[in-house]
Formats: sequence, C-alpha cells, structure tokens
Amino acid sequence: MNRFPDATSATATSAKVALVTGAARRVGRSIALELARAGYDIAIHHRSSPSEAAKLAAEIAVLGRRALIFQADLTRADQINAMFLDLDREFGRLDVLVNSAAVFRRTPVLTLTAEDFDFHIDTNLKAPYLCSIQAAPRMRATGSGAIVNITDVAAQRPFGNHVPYCVSKAGLAMLTSSLARALAPEITVNSVAPGTVLFRDDESDEDRRRIVSRIPRGRIGTPEDVALTVRFLVESRHVTGVTIAVDGGRSLA
Ligand SMILES: NC(=O)c1ccc[n+]([C@@H]2O[C@H](COP(=O)([O-])OP(=O)(O)OC[C@H]3O[C@@H](n4cnc5c(N)ncnc54)[C@H](OP(=O)(O)O)[C@@H]3O)[C@@H](O)[C@H]2O)c1
Repeated sequence: MNRFPDATSATATSAKVALVTGAARRVGRSIALELARAGYDIAIHHRSSPSEAAKLAAEIAVLGRRALIFQADLTRADQINAMFLDLDREFGRLDVLVNSAAVFRRTPVLTLTAEDFDFHIDTNLKAPYLCSIQAAPRMRATGSGAIVNITDVAAQRPFGNHVPYCVSKAGLAMLTSSLARALAPEITVNSVAPGTVLFRDDESDEDRRRIVSRIPRGRIGTPEDVALTVRFLVESRHVTGVTIAVDGGRSLA
C-alpha cells in the first residue's frame, strides 16, 4: 500500500476527517468534494487511479481542506489494515467512513462462476465490513461517527444479468442495519441507494433510453444527488439504520 501526501499534508489539523473509498473518480469523487465543502478533511482512497486522486486532492486543497491520498486494494484485508494505520499516523482521527468503492460486472446467469460471486462479494460487501470494523473503534475514540454505505436500487429490485452484484448490495443493506444496531449509540450507520446516476461506457443509446423510460422523474440522477444525500446522513444526528433511495422514483415502478 502506498500513500501520496499532497502539498497541504504537512500541518496537523483537528478538523473532522472523512474517509471515502473509491474516491478518485465518478460518484466517490463527488462525495469527497461535498464532504470537503461540509468542512471535513478528506482521506481519498483509490486503488488504481493515482492521477485522478491527485487532481481531486488539489481541488480539495483549494476548498481550504486537507486531503491525503491512500492506495489500497480493498479485496486485501492486509491492505485495508495498513491503510487505517497510515490514516492514524497522518490524521490521528476518523469521523466519517463512506463505503463507495465497488465493482459491477455483467454476469448472465447461465455463465455464472464461483469467481463472479467472490469478485462482487469481496469488493462490495466484505470490504465495507472490514473498513467498518476498522473505523468503529477509531470513531468511538472521538465519541461519535457516521458510516454511509452506497448500495443500489438493485439491492431490492434485482437486475437479471447481475445476480452476484445484487446479492452483494442486498448484503450491504443488511450490514447497514445490523451495524446501526451494533454500533449505537455513538455511531450512525446508513445507506444511500442510487438508481442510475452515471451511464457506463458499455451501455448503448437504446439501453440508455430504456433506463430513463423507467424513471418517474424522467432523467437519471447525478453523482451530486448522491453526494448531497451522503452529506445529509453524515450531518443528521438521530438518523440511523435507514436507506435513502436516490433514484428519481425508479424503485416505485
Ligand atoms: N454509477 C451509478 O449509476 C450507480 C448506480 C447505483 C449504485 N451505484 C453505486 O455507487 C457507488 C459508486 O459508483 P461508481 O459508478 O462511481 O463506481 P465505479 O466507478 O464502478 O467504482 C468506483 C471505484 O471503486 C474502486 N474499486 C473497485 N474495485 C476495488 C478494489 N478491489 N479495491 C479498491 N477500490 C476498488 C475503483 O477505484 P480505482 O479507480 O482507484 O481503481 C473505482 O474507481 C458504487 O458503490 C456503486 O455500486 C452507482
């Protein structure tokens, strides 16, 4: 595991600290920026996007917040543990954990393998579990904390060609409610369940039209829609164990 401090990293701070996994790109990036705007110093986690992470750290520095970059493969428990030890050394506290890193691979049911299952469970469920049990004692040490998991509407309304993904996100929803109970009263644990907020490169125009046609609000969401809801949950003092759908009504259909 490597850590790449940015230019603002030399001075220690007592500001609250948020760790966002998968923060270098896409949705995680918007969450990191929103929490920086909310006044948090940011631990930017990435696996394989060092230049995007460095660009984000620079943007956060412009907002007047401290940002440090932590690299780890979250399918490796030893790398997760090392990342938290590094975080202790650099920030000395942790107040918020957002589990956003994930994988999403098309896995048609007739070709499913054991590897497809492990691939999705290890990243989308086991890693948030391991990060949460690392985060919890650190948050308790400060007297409070907030964990937000990014699930998916598919945790409740499954996609036929993504069985392992849907199972992993349904598990993450249960991890949310069970940890909310187990980690109370100091720590809140909630989820945001987005519908589509960014199209993927492999989706055709026809796929995209079909996705939009199923959303009552008539458009896909944005990463900022998710980020604002994460911020709401982090700032809420008496909300725990809930999942907020950010899906334009998709889960009603
Ligand atoms: N995008 C959507 O429309 C949508 C819809 C519903 C739910 N969601 C959920 O929202 C969250 C963010 O979505 P997204 O589209 O931004 O996700 P994404 O682009 O598919 O993945 C986010 C990041 O996860 C990191 N990651 C993947 N495997 C990893 C591993 N083994 N170790 C460490 N990091 C790993 C990658 O980091 P590196 O780039 O550094 O490798 C990647 O940039 C995810 O939990 C996703 O399931 C998204």
